[in-house]
Order: sequence, then C-alpha cells, then structure tokens
Amino acid sequence: MVTNCKMVSFKTHGGEWGNLNAIEGSNDLPFDIRRVYYITQVPEKTTRGFHSHRALEQVLLCVNGSVSIRVKTPFEEEVIPLNDPAQGLYIGHMVWREMFDFSPGAVLLVLASERYTEKDYIRDYSQYIEEATFYFEGRQMQ
Ligand code: TYD
Repeated sequence: MVTNCKMVSFKTHGGEWGNLNAIEGSNDLPFDIRRVYYITQVPEKTTRGFHSHRALEQVLLCVNGSVSIRVKTPFEEEVIPLNDPAQGLYIGHMVWREMFDFSPGAVLLVLASERYTEKDYIRDYSQYIEEATFYFEGRQMQ
C-alpha cells in the first residue's frame, strides 16, 4: 500500500435484521474524530478530490454502493476500490487523493482528525510534488 495509507477493518454486528458497524475514535481509528462529512449524489464520470493535506488524517468508507480512490505520492500510486461498510481506507499526511467511479447512490463517509481549514489543503499539483518530495525523501533518510 502507498506510504501513509492502510486499510482499517470494523467489526460487523450482523444478524437477520441487518448489519451494524460501530467506529470509536482512537479505539478503532488511529485518531480522535473531530469532523464527519459525507459525499452523495456524485454524477457518473465525475472525479473529486485532487488535493493533499499537510496535517489532516482521514478514514474513507463507502457505506452504500462503491467508489474508487486513487492515492498517490511522488513515488507511488494505487487505486483502492471501496464497497464494504466494514472496510475503511486510512489516508495520512501528504498523500494526494482522487475519488472516482461513484456508483449510483454511492455514499462516501469521511472521518477526519481535524476541523475544516482550507490552509491545510494543497490543491496545486506542482506545489504538491515539491512539498511531498521533500517530505517523503526526508522520511526515507530517518
Ligand atoms: P473539497 O474538499 O474540495 O471536496 P472534494 O475534495 O471532495 O472535491 O470541498 C468541497 C467544498 O466543501 C469546498 O467549498 C469546501 C467545502 N467543505 C467544507 O466547508 N467543510 C468540509 O469539511 C469539507 C471537506 C469541505
């Protein structure tokens, strides 16, 4: 998996009445949850995201339908399909993400470690490559 990303599994309490998944900040995730948002009604052939975060950590879950997430660093790239409410994708610092192939009715739930602040975003790709190359090269030397 791309550096600073990993899959996180959540226990399913299932039965003939359906399934329930519970997520507790810090217990089931590597951070406390300060913000929750969800993305719905994404038209076909639409790609969202195209940014990275400097300090924010997030877990992405597709709680209905399916969606693909492309995660990238200057050195690695991977596409992760999400289609299981019991499986989340953790994305840590300085990873570029793009979300695409939303199925009709897909609901992408995002659990975030910080409140919203535009200052934490890197939206310009060449700026991203510059900052992230410095960040990941520095980590390799540690
Ligand atoms: P953005 O992060 O650009 O969405 P995506 O990466 O999925 O394409 O956010 C879209 C808009 O929503 C933008 O105007 C900022 C706003 N927004 C908030 O106000 N609060 C939030 O927590 C988030 C994630 C976005």
